[in-house]
Amino acid sequence: MAVPSRRVTNDELAKTIDTSDEWIRSHTGIGARHIADKDTAASDLGLAAARKTLALAIERGAVGEKSPEELALTLDLIVVGTSTQDYYSHPATACLVQRALGAKNAAAMDITIACSSFIYGLETAAALLKADARRNRALVIGVDLLSRITNWEDRATCILFGDGAGAVLLEKTAAKTVPGGILRTILGADGSGWEYLILRRGGSRNPWKKGEVVEEVPAIAMDGRAVYNFAVKVITETIARIMEEENIALDDLALIVPHQANARIVQAAAKRLKIPEELFYLNIEEYANTSSASIPIALDELNRAGRLKKGDLIITVGFGAGLTYGGNLIRW
Ligand code: ACO
Repeated sequence: MAVPSRRVTNDELAKTIDTSDEWIRSHTGIGARHIADKDTAASDLGLAAARKTLALAIERGAVGEKSPEELALTLDLIVVGTSTQDYYSHPATACLVQRALGAKNAAAMDITIACSSFIYGLETAAALLKADARRNRALVIGVDLLSRITNWEDRATCILFGDGAGAVLLEKTAAKTVPGGILRTILGADGSGWEYLILRRGGSRNPWKKGEVVEEVPAIAMDGRAVYNFAVKVITETIARIMEEENIALDDLALIVPHQANARIVQAAAKRLKIPEELFYLNIEEYANTSSASIPIALDELNRAGRLKKGDLIITVGFGAGLTYGGNLIRW
C-alpha cells in the first residue's frame, strides 16, 4: 500500500467547513484522511504500491526472482482499478505504471467502476490468467485520488474521501498443489442508480466547450442516503450469497474485508447478517474512503500484521458508483 504523507484530521477540516470531529466520527467512523500533494497523480501512488508489492513477494520468498526489476519482467498483465486516472481517458493509467515498472511483457488496462474497481479487477485478472496457459502473473492495483474530484466546500461529501493505493500480485498455480486463491467472485450492477454518485462534467455527455470559463472544479455529486441504503443491501446480500452458495459457515471465515466507505454501513450489514462486527476489518478511521484502494490497503495492513495466515478463508466485499457491487471469496 502507499498513502500520501499529508494527514488531514477532522479538526483540520472543521477549520474550513461547518462540521466537527464529533459529527464525522459518529456518522462515518472517519478520524483522518491522507491527501496527495499537487505533483502526485494516480500512477505515482499506484507505482509506489506496486514496487512495495514486488519487493514483499521477493522478501517473503513467494517468487524465485531476486529483484523487483526481474520480477516485473515476468508480469503478463497489469490491471489498475481507478476512477481518477492521471489523464482523462487517454492513456490508461496502467500503461504509465507498466512503463515505470519496466514490465515490458505485460498487457495493461484500467478498470473504472469507482469503489468496486478492485473487486472487478481481481476477477478480471484471474480470468485472464486462466484463459491462456502462457499467462502466469498479474499485478492488480487499486488507486484513487478522490481529493482531485471532491468539492472541498461540500461538507456532505468532502469529509468522506481520502487518497491511497494498494496492490496484489496474482500467480497462477496448479490447483492440486495449492488449493487456494480466488475461489469465487460475485459481480453486479444496478444502473438505475447511475445518478446517485456522479461526476457530471468532462465526458461525452457534457464535454468542456471552447472558451468556457470553469467556475467550479468538477466534483462528485452524491445522494448519500440512497447510496447508504444500496450499500447495506448489496453488502448483506453478497456476503449471504457467497456463504450460502459456497457452503461456508461463519466459523470457516477468518475475516471479511469490506470497502471502507462508512463504518455505519458495515455495522448495519453485520447486524442484518447476524455476524459479529469484529469479523469485519475496519481501518476507515485512519484513511477515510480511498475508493478502489480501500480493500488492497486493508489486505496489506492485515498481511504485514500477520493477521492473514496461509489457508485463511476471507471475503472481500464492496460497492460504488454505477451503482456497482461485488465480492471475492479468497483462500489466502
Ligand atoms: N458535518 C456536520 N453536519 C453535516 C455534515 C457534516 N460533514 N454533513 C451533513 N450534515 C448535516 C446535514 O446537513 C443534515 O442536517 P439537517 O438535518 O439540518 O438537514 C444532517 O447532518 C443529517 O444529514 P444526512 O445527510 O441525513 O446524514 P446521514 O446520517 O445520512 O449521513 C452520509 C450522511 C455520511 C453521507 C451517509 O449518508 C453516507 O455515508 N452515505 C453513503 C456514502 C457513501 O458510501 N459513498 C460511497 C462513495 S463510493 C464511490 O463510488 C466514490
